[in-house]
Amino acid sequence: MPSKYILVTGGTGFIGSHTSIALAAAGYIPLLLDNFSNSDARVLQRLNNIIGTTPKLVEGDVRDTPLLAKLFGDYDITGVMHFAGLKAVGDSVADPLSYYDVNVCGTVNLARAMKASGVKTLIFSSSATVYGEPESSPIPEHAPFAPANPYGQSKAMSELILADLHKSDPTWRIARLRYFNPVGAHESGLIGELPQGKPNNLMPFVSQVAVGIRERLTVHGNDYPTPDGTGVRDYVHVMDLAEGHVAALRHVTDNPGLLTLNLGTGVGASVLDVVNTFERVSGRPVARDMGPRRPGDVPAYWADPSQALATLGWKAKRGLDEMCADSWRWQALNPDAYDRRTRPRTTSTAV
Ligand code: NAD
Ligand code: UD1
Repeated sequence: MPSKYILVTGGTGFIGSHTSIALAAAGYIPLLLDNFSNSDARVLQRLNNIIGTTPKLVEGDVRDTPLLAKLFGDYDITGVMHFAGLKAVGDSVADPLSYYDVNVCGTVNLARAMKASGVKTLIFSSSATVYGEPESSPIPEHAPFAPANPYGQSKAMSELILADLHKSDPTWRIARLRYFNPVGAHESGLIGELPQGKPNNLMPFVSQVAVGIRERLTVHGNDYPTPDGTGVRDYVHVMDLAEGHVAALRHVTDNPGLLTLNLGTGVGASVLDVVNTFERVSGRPVARDMGPRRPGDVPAYWADPSQALATLGWKAKRGLDEMCADSWRWQALNPDAYDRRTRPRTTSTAV
């Protein structure tokens, strides 16, 4: 019998590669599509080491209409997980058109190709950023959209487009998953996050200080109305997220509809909680200075993840200790994160 695939766009990226492991563990066959704009082909060998087989990969752009038509023609694809996208908030302010092009047009192009080939099962990567500065935490899914930058707008727009698509044809099976702050890495330390240049996000910055790539962390504000004055977020382990995707895929396969779920732990951690936990589990000091607030930052937010539990039976299992320990293992084993100046790009499958 020919293989049936789950197409994973952005499959060599941070969350896509970890989700490919969870898919394989659950008996699905991932087929990766990526243009390597923010990833490295070497992840395929690492996935082989973990899964025991190298996933098929198509190198290409999710906005490439003929490529997608050929892809859906060549492979028996039963569902799609759509991770491909741009995700740097600051870049989205500087270059909004690229964000709308890749994130919104890319989603529309993908959905068109799916519609043309009769594949109507889609798991979409959304973000807690659609809530902007929430009125209160924990944030339920019915909290209003208030995205504060083009990245957040692009996710909110994509969500609305998918809702309209579902309204036009209720046989679609769509899950819109809103991630809170994904961190951590696979427990093997073989794959993890590859920040470009100086990280904006807290966890990669902390691990780069711990390994000696950066000298000191600047804590962006210690005068917030939070228990220790530093910003509070809902950090969620990337393998928990990955398992949440598999649970969502199973659910929508059995239940056509439009599902919208927060994926978070429901627990807030402050910047100092993260730094102190990281120091403890890694045994490395993380030098830090207190600095001013970062413009655009929200003091505190965390998820209400109760819908994901009620609907999928999914709950984050890994706590801050595992998030820090796994981030550290990945960083310590790969101090240059593949040294992407020398990355090879020759392992794609032609379609
Ligand atoms: P990532 O950059 O590691 O992965 C995205 C992947 O998509 C990369 O491998 C990149 O090369 C690929 N890609 C980008 N544009 C493409 C295009 N036009 N065609 C084909 N491939 C393309 O990011 P990630 O952290 O894994 O995020 C995955 C998704 O989750 C994104 O849509 C992101 O917006 C969303 N998300 C991420 C976070 C986070 O903090 N990591 C939080 C909420 C939502
Ligand atoms: C950011 C994005 C958000 C995205 C999320 C992914 C912004 C405004 N928001 O959220 O859209 O979904 O990443 O994880 O960029 N911090 C420091 N020092 C640092 C870096 C961060 O103190 O060097 C603090 C921040 O002020 C914040 C916390 O750490 O309180 C987390 O920051 P970060 O990892 O950037 O995530 P978010 O700001 O929540």
